[in-house]
Amino acid sequence: MTVREERRVGIGVIGYDGAAKAHLQAILRVGTVFWPPPVRPVLVAVAGRSAERVQQAAQRYGAQAAYTDWRRLIEDPRVEILIDAGPNDLHAEPCVAAASRGLHVLCEKPLARSSTEAATMRDAAARAGVVHMAGYNYRFIPAVLLARQMIVEGRLGEIRHFRARFCDDSMVDPSAPYTWRHSRAQAGSGVIGDLAAHAIDLAHFLVGGIEAVSASARVFVDRRPRPQGGEGVVDVEDAIEAVVEFAAGPVGTLAASTFCPGRKNFLTFEVNGMLGSVVFNLERLNELEVFVRGEAVNGFRTVMVTEAHHPYGGRWWPPGHIIGWEHTFVHQLHRFLAAVAGQAQVGPEGATFEDGYRCAVVCDLLDRAAREGRRVDVAGFVPSRA
Ligand SMILES: NC(=O)c1ccc[n+]([C@@H]2O[C@H](COP(=O)([O-])OP(=O)(O)OC[C@H]3O[C@@H](n4cnc5c(N)ncnc54)[C@H](O)[C@@H]3O)[C@@H](O)[C@H]2O)c1
Repeated sequence: MTVREERRVGIGVIGYDGAAKAHLQAILRVGTVFWPPPVRPVLVAVAGRSAERVQQAAQRYGAQAAYTDWRRLIEDPRVEILIDAGPNDLHAEPCVAAASRGLHVLCEKPLARSSTEAATMRDAAARAGVVHMAGYNYRFIPAVLLARQMIVEGRLGEIRHFRARFCDDSMVDPSAPYTWRHSRAQAGSGVIGDLAAHAIDLAHFLVGGIEAVSASARVFVDRRPRPQGGEGVVDVEDAIEAVVEFAAGPVGTLAASTFCPGRKNFLTFEVNGMLGSVVFNLERLNELEVFVRGEAVNGFRTVMVTEAHHPYGGRWWPPGHIIGWEHTFVHQLHRFLAAVAGQAQVGPEGATFEDGYRCAVVCDLLDRAAREGRRVDVAGFVPSRA
């Protein structure tokens, strides 16, 4: 294939800070790492609120246009794909509008502020027949994919437990500023949607559907200083501890908190089956701890998941030359572009809007279980939050 024969696809990105940075870098790298690319992504436009800052972002990443109104971005005829990395209250409206214009949509997690809102996004994308993906990028970590491969191949035997924690210490300091993440109206929930959602999605990806939850939640600091002065009222949870029951039989726990000194991006899970266990920690994402019963020399061993025969092995560097957080966005975007090119499906490796919806249902369940102090299940769940 020559460069001339490549199909080029224009991308517009909402946001340029935080997660958006990882998406913007992925757009620049994906076609060089996966060669030849399924389609060649072209960064057409970036949208943000401040004209000066969005212009700088456009220059920095080589976008052709900078918009302060996301509507102009999705109306730009050169844009065929929307990557929505805005805050949670800026997911549903742009994604539904983009899908109804025929744009393919990759939206950051949590898909929406509630399962009701997530359902409207899922339905809009399905109606429009566009490619859709929820940004659960941790599915694309080689060690996570190796864990899944072992589970699917039955090497851990019948699964009994899934336990996950996602902890950081970002809010321990009471003077840490109030942001959109502390507002139910903007975020939908606190650590449930922000952190636990990743663990829920991995639970679904690795073990299957969650059917019931029991939970306790806490707000530890209920007011925080606003950067522009005054105080904001925190009306979302700072921490959640939950018991989860899976439809296929396993039982487990989920915890998320921003009040864990020393923890930075500590997403860890352990899966126990009848024949073995695997343990993963995002802060050491190239490694998977594996225990298989009956091996001659027994005990947990740490597998460096960078060999050529491992998922995405040989795609980046030689064995032991580790990859990082940003590479998951490149893998994710490649899968999305392959789906746009008609060469692959988003699932099961990637999360579709249906997966994003299923995750949002469990987020709503956790919220309800904690508020009402009781066990709630998917079957009897009627969403009440828009
Ligand atoms: N997949 C991951 O690992 C991951 C990591 C971090 C955040 N996220 C998700 O990404 C989303 C953004 O989180 P973040 O931490 O990057 O937030 P952030 O506050 O750092 O960035 C939000 C971005 O949205 C832009 N924005 C805000 N309002 C806008 C508007 N009206 N029009 C256009 N742009 C606007 C801001 O300019 C900024 O670039 C959230 O949904 C979050 O859950 C995902």
